[in-house]
Amino acid sequence: MKTAPNLVLVGPMGAGKSSIGRRIAGRFGLAFIDADREIEKRTGANVTTIFECEGETGFRARERDTLADLLGGEAQVIATGGGAVLDAGNRTRMRERGFVVHLHVGVPRQLSRLARDRTRPLLATQDRERVLRQLAEARAPLYAEVADLRLDTDALSPGDACATLGRLL
Ligand code: S3P
Repeated sequence: MKTAPNLVLVGPMGAGKSSIGRRIAGRFGLAFIDADREIEKRTGANVTTIFECEGETGFRARERDTLADLLGGEAQVIATGGGAVLDAGNRTRMRERGFVVHLHVGVPRQLSRLARDRTRPLLATQDRERVLRQLAEARAPLYAEVADLRLDTDALSPGDACATLGRLL
């Protein structure tokens, strides 16, 4: 692994950032932090409620502050939210303070993995496929820009993805 204080996981919803991140942290003896859960802990409200009360803009501001704090630490695996790469400052700090892995997943697999999920405000829509395709198109260049490494998790269980990543790092 490139000498970096942290391992940072980016990628779309349903790519497996949290499940793979927790496993890889265990394997390397690092702390695991899910940025969304950290935002919820600090705010005392879940992501959906934050979107409802403060809009996406308010959520992104909390995401930026929380990520900046987390990236100041070291020896952590940090699972970021799918939209964390939208902010240029986030991208810069990720690259400065982490080895960045882009966990990729295609839209059909996202749809099946997230079929029963009701915790993502951006997916509170009748047409999830259209939303996911739009997000994928808009964000693909940002994931590519920030990542040191890309792993496609479409066909991988969290355990297999962790083993593959472990070999690549
Ligand atoms: C978002 C992804 C979510 C969460 C929020 C917004 C996004 O995180 O941060 O619902 O913009 O793609 P996960 O990628 O962990 O689901």
